[in-house]
Amino acid sequence: MQRVHGPYGVNPGWGSAERGAAGSGRFPYTGRPLQPHRRPVSHDKRRILTGITTSGTPHLGNYVGAIRPAIAASRRADAESFYFLADYHALIKTGDPARVQQSTLEIAASWLACGLDPDKVFFYRQSDIPEIPELTWFLTCVTAKGLLNRAHAYKAAVDANETASEDADAGITAGLYMYPVLMAADILIFNAHEVPVGRDQIQHIEMARDIGQRFNHLYGNEYFTLPAAKIEENVATLPGTDGRKMSKSYDNTIPLWLPAKDLKKAILGIVTDSRAPGEPKDADGSNLFAIYQAFASAEEAAAMRRAFEDGIAWGDAKQKLFERVEAELAPLRERYDALAARPERIEELLHAGACKARERSVPLLARLRHAVGIRALGAKGVAADVAAVDLHAAKLPVLKSYREADGKFYFKLAGADGAVLLQSRAFDAPKDAGMLAAALVDAGDDATAVTGLLARCAPVGEPVQSIDTIVSALAQLKADKLAKQVGKD
Ligand code: TRP
Repeated sequence: MQRVHGPYGVNPGWGSAERGAAGSGRFPYTGRPLQPHRRPVSHDKRRILTGITTSGTPHLGNYVGAIRPAIAASRRADAESFYFLADYHALIKTGDPARVQQSTLEIAASWLACGLDPDKVFFYRQSDIPEIPELTWFLTCVTAKGLLNRAHAYKAAVDANETASEDADAGITAGLYMYPVLMAADILIFNAHEVPVGRDQIQHIEMARDIGQRFNHLYGNEYFTLPAAKIEENVATLPGTDGRKMSKSYDNTIPLWLPAKDLKKAILGIVTDSRAPGEPKDADGSNLFAIYQAFASAEEAAAMRRAFEDGIAWGDAKQKLFERVEAELAPLRERYDALAARPERIEELLHAGACKARERSVPLLARLRHAVGIRALGAKGVAADVAAVDLHAAKLPVLKSYREADGKFYFKLAGADGAVLLQSRAFDAPKDAGMLAAALVDAGDDATAVTGLLARCAPVGEPVQSIDTIVSALAQLKADKLAKQVGKD
């Protein structure tokens, strides 16, 4: 029996916390008593969560594209923000311990210097939350290997090996392979609704949804909120000194906290074309202008655009850019330097942040342990798992294709209780019916996609069942299909 409660699920109340940190009845850091049965999840606020891998040094592109917008968003009153230092993820990217430690300090100090208020948000280090690796294992055990085979980063590594005529898995760690599961645990442990990320991370968020949905389905309860990626459309991607996107992998970055004179030197090194002073210049094609615009007000940017048209010399434009960036960064740099000089203070802040975050993660993990059967030997199962004793025999909705006496092809979707939820229109070719039916299953809980497909397969002029019911049934079918794909890729 599967209960489905709309896109974000309903919290059915806490299971008991009987072992491990939770078993002491106190939160590990605060010593505050733990009340797993009474603590409600706040359903009123959107939870927004994002992680920053601690393997690099923050640069202007990180500031404009991630830090600054995230801090602005963290001030929203209707949301709870979770920002964390993904140091377990860093281990997948680098084997240099000093780098991991230094980057963690630099990134933490950067976010704080730029105005992140640790009292208003959840700001913590991934490795301070032991529930994350434990959840990673629970999720690992329900994740189809075939799902991970499809991850872009893993596939790219395999492709590179094949191109180089190496063994397909040469030099690929299981850490890289498991990256999406660890990331799913980061997100699901706090039941985040929204995950602001760059486009390259969209697939990871989709996998977190699939994995969370799979766990919910198998253990028969809405333990996890299914997260959605949030792509900031109007945040600029900053060009680097060579005009390509500013990125460590292109070696074209301007580090965020350079002392003023080095910042100036770096800005003077930005590549421009050979137009002479007095020659009109095209602001839209200029990386210099793009960086200026990311720091300037609308009026300042308009004035700079006119200066370009009037033929400002590149040297002068660079000087103006330096002054503008310096005006914004100088006060932040002062704070950064003070923070970075006191790592023990940051350490304390991160511990306090972990403590606050664990008030959420400890009770959820206690429920999850109980759900999977890691629980006191005398404890009774929760109602949902009694219903789910035989996971694989659990009744599922059915999607069936068939041919009618009229010679045409149809399919129909019935709920687990047998009620017909959707009866397709007639198709002349079996292939057309089949493709639409398969696309519906793949759309799963994506209501927008399902609605689009329904328009193509529902009988013309006839009312369709409640879209929510159809979406719930398709979501279950999709979870089931993913589960059966293990090893098939
Ligand atoms: N993979 C992300 C990146 O490279 C970092 C990350 C780790 C993350 N865990 C996360 C982002 C959870 C969002 C949510 O950018």
